[in-house]
Amino acid sequence: MQTTLVIIKPNGVQGGIIGEIIARYEKARLSIAALRIRNITREEADGFYAEHRGKGFFTELVDFMTSGPVVLLALRGEKAVEAVRQMNGATNPKNAQPGTIRFDFAPSMGENVVHSSDSPESAAREVAYWFKDSELVNYPAASHLL
Ligand code: RTP
Ligand code: MG
Repeated sequence: MQTTLVIIKPNGVQGGIIGEIIARYEKARLSIAALRIRNITREEADGFYAEHRGKGFFTELVDFMTSGPVVLLALRGEKAVEAVRQMNGATNPKNAQPGTIRFDFAPSMGENVVHSSDSPESAAREVAYWFKDSELVNYPAASHLL
């Protein structure tokens, strides 16, 4: 079982597709270990994306991620890290496969609607970055949908 970190970016929130995105993850039999909507600070965005500091798109990325509220989501399931990356689709929506969240909703690479952890190691770091252990819950993901 893995736990991975998803962020629904400001355009996903303001586009009114929080429910649609979370429904896709639930239908994939992932359970929600933690869930919160809030604004993040520039300092938080900077620390979260530390691996991208100094790259050309970094300031734009921090500007965008702090332009409105985001949804912070920890998802749990078998091979959750890779499963969520597949469901989100390629970073550049022009390269995303049909049926993925970015194919369906992302207008551009910079505003690509969702973030997700790219390895089990980054998932552990990223979940801990936004949530305390005591905030994570556990329940069996549905084996069928109600
Ligand atoms: P994410 O972290 O958001 O899930 O996306 P990712 O792993 O697919 O992409 P990553 O390489 O981690 O880049 C983080 C975010 O920075 C923006 N980006 N812009 N203009 C560019 O060349 C460029 N490259 C990356 C994207 O919004 C990407 O999601
Ligand atoms: Mg990434």
